[in-house]
Amino acid sequence: MGTKFEACSNSTRSSCPGYAVTNFTRAEQGFEASLVLTGPPCNAYGKDIFHLTLGIRFDTQNRLHVHIKDTVEKQYQIPRAIIPLDSGSGVSENDSNLKFTHVQDAQSGFGFKIQRGDDVIFDTTGRPLIFEDQYIEITSSLPKNANIYGIGETPDYFRRSTANTTKTLWNRDAHNPLGENVYGSHSIYMELRKGKFHGAYLHNSHGMDIVMANGTIQYRLLGGTVDLYFFGGPSALDVIDQYTELVGRPNRIPYWSLGFHNCRYGYKSVYVVNEVIANYSKARIPLEVAWTDIDYMDNTRDFTFDSVNFPLSEMQKQLKYLHSRNQRMVLMTDPAIQRKTSYETYVRGHELNVFIKNPDGSEYVGHVWPGYTVFPDWFGNNTDKWWHAELQQYFDQLPIDGMWIDMNEATSFCTGTCGSGQPTDKVPALPWLVSSPGPPHRKLNTSNPFLVPPYAIHNPQIEISDNTIETTAVHANGVIEYHVHNLYGYMQSKTTRDFLLAYRQNKRPFLLSRSTFAGSGALVNHWTGDNEATWQDLHISISSVFDFGIFGIPMVGADICGFTGNTTEELCARWIEVGAFYPFSRNHNAIEMESQELYLWESVAEASRRALAVRYKLLPYFYTMYQYSVEVGWPVARPLVFEFPQVPETAGNDRQMLIGGGILVSPVLEEGATTVRAFFPAGKWYDWYDYTEVTGTNAFVILDANLEHINVHIRGGSIIPMQPPGMTTVESRANNFQLLVATNGQGKASGELRARSEHGVCQRSGS
Ligand code: NOJ
Repeated sequence: MGTKFEACSNSTRSSCPGYAVTNFTRAEQGFEASLVLTGPPCNAYGKDIFHLTLGIRFDTQNRLHVHIKDTVEKQYQIPRAIIPLDSGSGVSENDSNLKFTHVQDAQSGFGFKIQRGDDVIFDTTGRPLIFEDQYIEITSSLPKNANIYGIGETPDYFRRSTANTTKTLWNRDAHNPLGENVYGSHSIYMELRKGKFHGAYLHNSHGMDIVMANGTIQYRLLGGTVDLYFFGGPSALDVIDQYTELVGRPNRIPYWSLGFHNCRYGYKSVYVVNEVIANYSKARIPLEVAWTDIDYMDNTRDFTFDSVNFPLSEMQKQLKYLHSRNQRMVLMTDPAIQRKTSYETYVRGHELNVFIKNPDGSEYVGHVWPGYTVFPDWFGNNTDKWWHAELQQYFDQLPIDGMWIDMNEATSFCTGTCGSGQPTDKVPALPWLVSSPGPPHRKLNTSNPFLVPPYAIHNPQIEISDNTIETTAVHANGVIEYHVHNLYGYMQSKTTRDFLLAYRQNKRPFLLSRSTFAGSGALVNHWTGDNEATWQDLHISISSVFDFGIFGIPMVGADICGFTGNTTEELCARWIEVGAFYPFSRNHNAIEMESQELYLWESVAEASRRALAVRYKLLPYFYTMYQYSVEVGWPVARPLVFEFPQVPETAGNDRQMLIGGGILVSPVLEEGATTVRAFFPAGKWYDWYDYTEVTGTNAFVILDANLEHINVHIRGGSIIPMQPPGMTTVESRANNFQLLVATNGQGKASGELRARSEHGVCQRSGS
């Protein structure tokens, strides 16, 4: 991973003068001030902006907003119409738990501090603010060995390293590279200090690096403004509550989506999928949802069916069959639309002028599965109308239960508008099939700062336009892709969800999106993309699930048994044991890999039956925890540190997973292991299967874990609502409720149940 172009040296940056504060005045529920550049511009990676406006607002008791923008407001900012942030009712400075102070330093100019009580949680003093048209830099100090969580999307260990770590936010289709940027952008981080959490979120759609090194956290932005929100916590759940109140609470999922899902890329026909459905049933492994990938499409074109292998009539039969057994179907839709005059979806979109353009006004043409493709421009006036009409026709033919939107970073297999100028109906082969290792990269156009920005974020490609839509492509409102690249998946999610809500007015939509942005949780759910069938990726999947809990997208899971690479029997067994506890539990496999359905090996089948029986028995509990997500943002799957922040050993624990606060899952994550070293915080814990008591002493305990066994413990003090498991969620819900009362050291326990029936929501708490 390397920076490709550093047009400026560090010495240029160190000569940046900083800003002086003037006119610092009290405003309603906050302050306002002007900032003026104090010396000659350094123009480090762009042009310094001389006049800035500073706004401070105490949005709520625990949320403080600091916004530094160019006074003339030419810099791109995310419109509230796209991401409707909550503005909070506003409180007085005295009523806020967070304090703002500014400092004018002789060397570095304006800086500020955010305090919670005596603790300074953000401190930019002593390091100049750099504010240029294409580069913004703001730096805060961090304590030594800080406990930082969040910032992604990146497959990484949960507690982020602060030793020379760069996290890049630039949505990218990449196969799970450790530590690098992948599909979504979430700049929120939480810090744990002395047993308390606080958080900070930067609202900006531009590409950015967030660098943690030498006791600082530094934001390096490719544009926009410094739009920072601080959250006072003090618990982890409080920070997530405060963050999701701002960006949007997680969407309400349908109950059935908590069942187990099976998918793969590469099912050859609808008949093969029929067999898979039957085989799950034969093996007595609960299958709630049968998914089909792009394979069902006619030449991978959206809204079409392969007339030979996946004829519509057979798909309709399959859907009917699934529904007759209380099972469901979800299918894939990609944003890229084949540019072919015989493809009606394209023709209608072309006539309505809905696609992204080149700077000369012609359609921007990339390359995705069906060959040359155009990309819906979600900023266009007609785009929603066109997209909804296409979806309506599709759903009228096959009323599937949920949708899966993929490749929406958006991915393109070539760099630039490679299909422009090519014969309109030409369908090129996939680039990797034509030449290996692929065609040489084009010559860089370093004279265009929007193609090759002066500051190169650490996106591990030659250009930021590689593998996606070129940054100079133009949207309907005149904004170029450079500013809004990270919003593409978010915007597709919004319009697709709007369709689903309108199509089935009384049903909760189920929508899964690969690309996400801050606030996506209000619209969609997520899987962590193309992982690999390795033990390392099994381990990392737990962190990714925790990350998305922070990002406000609690319905999340990784591809069980691994996507690329061939899995093994042992890995697959261990993976379903973890995956049965992911909030979103789906086995998914890549094309040309060996099959990995759960019934294929006896040990995996047995591990699946056992682990999924626990999940299904816990469905009322999962659902209750999910209701907390919807109401106050709390994640369903939680790291120990969220519940036991005072216990130092929990800070880096990403090998065990709590469901809600009351169920602890301690999986095997190593090949060949038949025991697991599990940490038990002080207190009483009970084995799920035989209620044997484990007395937690803030220490590790070695537990037996044969291949088919997953260790699950109940936290003393919890009441867990349950229903005996069935083969579907409908079957399980027909069974009587049970309450498992696990007392703490004082013989006490408390819990809650939220259940939903046709007659409404029922809510019970008790102790
Ligand atoms: C990429 C997705 O990440 C993967 O899950 C899917 O199977 C392929 N696209 C094919 O649609």
